[in-house]
Amino acid sequence: MSKSSPPPGTSDIFADEVTAWLELENTARRVFSLYGYGEIRTPIFEFTEVFQRGLGNETEVVQKEMYTFEDRGGRSLTLRPEGTAGVMRALSGTEAMNGVEQRVFYMGPMFRGERPSAGRRRQFHQIGVENAGKVSPELDAESIAMLAHYLNEVGAGGFELLINTRGVKEDRGPAEAALREHFAAHIDEMCEDCRNRLERNVWRILDCKQECCRKHIDNAPDAASLFGESSRDYFKRVCDMLTTWNVPFKVEPRLVRGLDYYVHTVFELTHTALGGQNAIAGGGRYELTVPGFNKPVQGVGFAAGMERLLMVREAAGRMAPAGVTPDVFLVSLGEKALAYNGKLAGDLRNAGVSVALEYEPKSMKSQMRSADRLKAKNVLILGETELESGVAVLKNMADGSQKTVPFNEIQVELTK
Ligand code: HAM
Repeated sequence: MSKSSPPPGTSDIFADEVTAWLELENTARRVFSLYGYGEIRTPIFEFTEVFQRGLGNETEVVQKEMYTFEDRGGRSLTLRPEGTAGVMRALSGTEAMNGVEQRVFYMGPMFRGERPSAGRRRQFHQIGVENAGKVSPELDAESIAMLAHYLNEVGAGGFELLINTRGVKEDRGPAEAALREHFAAHIDEMCEDCRNRLERNVWRILDCKQECCRKHIDNAPDAASLFGESSRDYFKRVCDMLTTWNVPFKVEPRLVRGLDYYVHTVFELTHTALGGQNAIAGGGRYELTVPGFNKPVQGVGFAAGMERLLMVREAAGRMAPAGVTPDVFLVSLGEKALAYNGKLAGDLRNAGVSVALEYEPKSMKSQMRSADRLKAKNVLILGETELESGVAVLKNMADGSQKTVPFNEIQVELTK
């Protein structure tokens, strides 16, 4: 059957797929609560400046990918392209701004106007975590360990964890100058985007995937080694803590991440089961500017892409839990049985039994087909004879066994 498609880069998620989504969500709630995190729900759209100021005007997301529109009062609004900026806007009303730690997680749709491909959507879903208010390398390591814990529990193990440091902003001068000098010498052979990045944001060159740029990126100076001692010590403490917690990682000196708010630790988890878009999750420590405040909010966190988590689980052969199936399908043979079953369905549902039935007269065969399609656990067959005798036939669909049950025991039988 053909169907009307949703806009490119978006998907409908049907009931039989939702069970896997619920498993991702409920596992997140369980694992994150072990670390003291509570759920926060923020709006799906924010004032545009929340993202412009929070993510930085130079980021690709802000420059090219935001869904921005005007509200009736002429204010510019944007569908959230990620969760951190909105969550920090919400937490700016808490003690997080005064250095009191806040632990929150969130899940839901994000929107980026990217070119759709496998694993790259325009509406996608993230499960994210933010720890705001305090700065400590152990908190960064804990955030990474919690993400690894979650991925293992949810059936997305086998990932590779890449980490790096961006240092603090005051520390970046010498490294930035060294990078600029290196790339300036080769810029004629590099892509147009990188030519623009050379002056505007040289770090972003490290992220370029173009073949013509790769060899110059591979030969670039190791920026982290040019950072000051305190930045390097901070990073060492993150790595030491991960080792203590037995979280395997690989230091990737070229990892910069696409958002400008990062300082110190950055990380990305990749999986070979994914194609070109191989990041299941990413995050790091940040200093994020919230409109209305002079001082940035400090935090560390991550987000995992739910569509990509599902792809990894599927590749690993993880079965989604079964969807909702009725405890019983009531087959009605004749008008009187239909009326009786209508009342019975109400009573059974009030008693916590899930019931399916059809309200128009149908043949036995057609109703049994419906019961099969819905994967009903039992079928109760009721016709003139049963109404007269007060006893119905209950068929167990898993093993095919049948028994006769007096009407007044149907509920007890089905709630056993
Ligand atoms: P991000 O790396 O932009 O980070 O996104 C995190 C994850 O979301 C990615 O690793 C990927 O799995 C998924 N994702 C991103 N874009 C798409 C897309 N177009 N289609 C499908 N999946 C996608 C952030 O968003 C930061 N806010 C993470 C963070 C939280 N940093 C600190 N706290």
